Amino acid sequence: MKEMKATMDKIVNLCKSRGFIFQGSEIYGGFANTWDFGPIGVELKNNIKRAWWKRFVQEDPSTYGIDAAILMNPTVWQASGHIESFGDPKMDCKNCKTRHRADTLIENHSKGKVSAEGMSNEEMEKYIEEHDVRCPVCGKRDFTPIRKFNPMFTTSRDMTGEASNEVVYLRPETCQGEYVNFLNVQRSTRAKVPFAIAQIGKSFRNEITPGNFLFRTIEFEQMELQKFCKDEDSMNYYNEYKEKALQFVKDLGLDCEHLRFHDHDKLAHYAKAACDIQFLFPIGWQELNGIHHRGTWDLSRHQEFSGKNMNYLDPVTNEKFIPTVIEYSIGADRLTLALLCEAYDEEVLDNGETRVVMHLNPSIAPYKVAVLPLQKNLSDKAKDVLNILNKEFMCDYDEAGSIGKRYRRQDEIGTPFAVTIDFDTLENNTVTIRDRDSMEQIRLGIDELVDYIQKRIKFN
Ligand code: GAP
Repeated sequence: MKEMKATMDKIVNLCKSRGFIFQGSEIYGGFANTWDFGPIGVELKNNIKRAWWKRFVQEDPSTYGIDAAILMNPTVWQASGHIESFGDPKMDCKNCKTRHRADTLIENHSKGKVSAEGMSNEEMEKYIEEHDVRCPVCGKRDFTPIRKFNPMFTTSRDMTGEASNEVVYLRPETCQGEYVNFLNVQRSTRAKVPFAIAQIGKSFRNEITPGNFLFRTIEFEQMELQKFCKDEDSMNYYNEYKEKALQFVKDLGLDCEHLRFHDHDKLAHYAKAACDIQFLFPIGWQELNGIHHRGTWDLSRHQEFSGKNMNYLDPVTNEKFIPTVIEYSIGADRLTLALLCEAYDEEVLDNGETRVVMHLNPSIAPYKVAVLPLQKNLSDKAKDVLNILNKEFMCDYDEAGSIGKRYRRQDEIGTPFAVTIDFDTLENNTVTIRDRDSMEQIRLGIDELVDYIQKRIKFN
């Protein structure tokens, strides 16, 4: 298996020092499980989201994108079951007063070998006692019994100017926006089943377990897609999305040896199948994304609670039915973390020095090219080159320090190409272009640069 050089500490430190990701509200001592994306990180995450949209929306004519409101009519969350039954099994440590998820305690204690999925509260309590699972904070085993904890954040809306505020929820998943717009999208686009609705947006969960950096945060982005199909075709689409989901993360750069399917043992009563794709994070094998067969549950529930008829009329057979849903859901932040961990490398060079390099797929690299004048008195020419390149790509410009140090800095943020302006550039309008991974350099005309880079950063 390909060795992974990343540890969570190394990734967190690199992210902070190089401007990928900072602790949320850092100058106030932080705010648990929140992170702010810096100048480099925002480019990386935007590129990941763009790659997902390109693959699943742009390149699939039967998928329609939307951007639904975060705040939804509170009845949506009754229909979805979130108010009634969405809940994590929480335990408080009586000794140090910290709160934990029982299923996570078990999974972490067994280093991912035991899944608490499908265990009842009693079974989890018994496991914790029999296996002497202790509080990760204080090391004692002195927990309260398991209780359900609803992780939905609430806010309120003053509708009348009087004190009768309506409780409103911050959505814990984006897919409900896709279900409630099923009729709107179908009618406005005249889409025929099978078709899909996709969106990317923020979700919020009051997570109580330690977050492990971007892995589990209280505010995160999801990229979700619901395929609406006939029930008899649903398992084909389920298997198709399993493969598409796996191919997507491989194409972005995750190593196939660090990826595996994990089929769920316990299924919801309406589901025919469910699985995760797991990635080997530095904290062990963990869920990266989910593919869920959801039957007709979601649309039927919205029909029941809204009173709107969610049937689809097949124009060929005249058959009326509620479509079955196959859901594909992946967290943009969690995927960003996986890609950072996979890309991280420490290479020992011939001169004995170690270079830290992020082998990010060029299509998602924050900056595609860095423009580096060999000396400060070449900066006018370098800025001319920069002004050509930054019409096409996100570029960095750096004229401070030795060229070797500047290359290292670009390696650490994963910039695939560095263009160096030297005195020959003034003579013949050529530059050197250095490849991040091989460190090889070739000489190219300035007029050839855009084409050269464009060909190498394409995401197919
Ligand atoms: N609509 C289905 C749904 O939300 P989920 O398994 O709860 O399913 C889907 O979430 C994906 O969203 C996960 O596989 C993960 O990538 C991401 N995700 C969920 N909770 C998260 C959190 N607290 N922080 C970061 N990402 C999260």
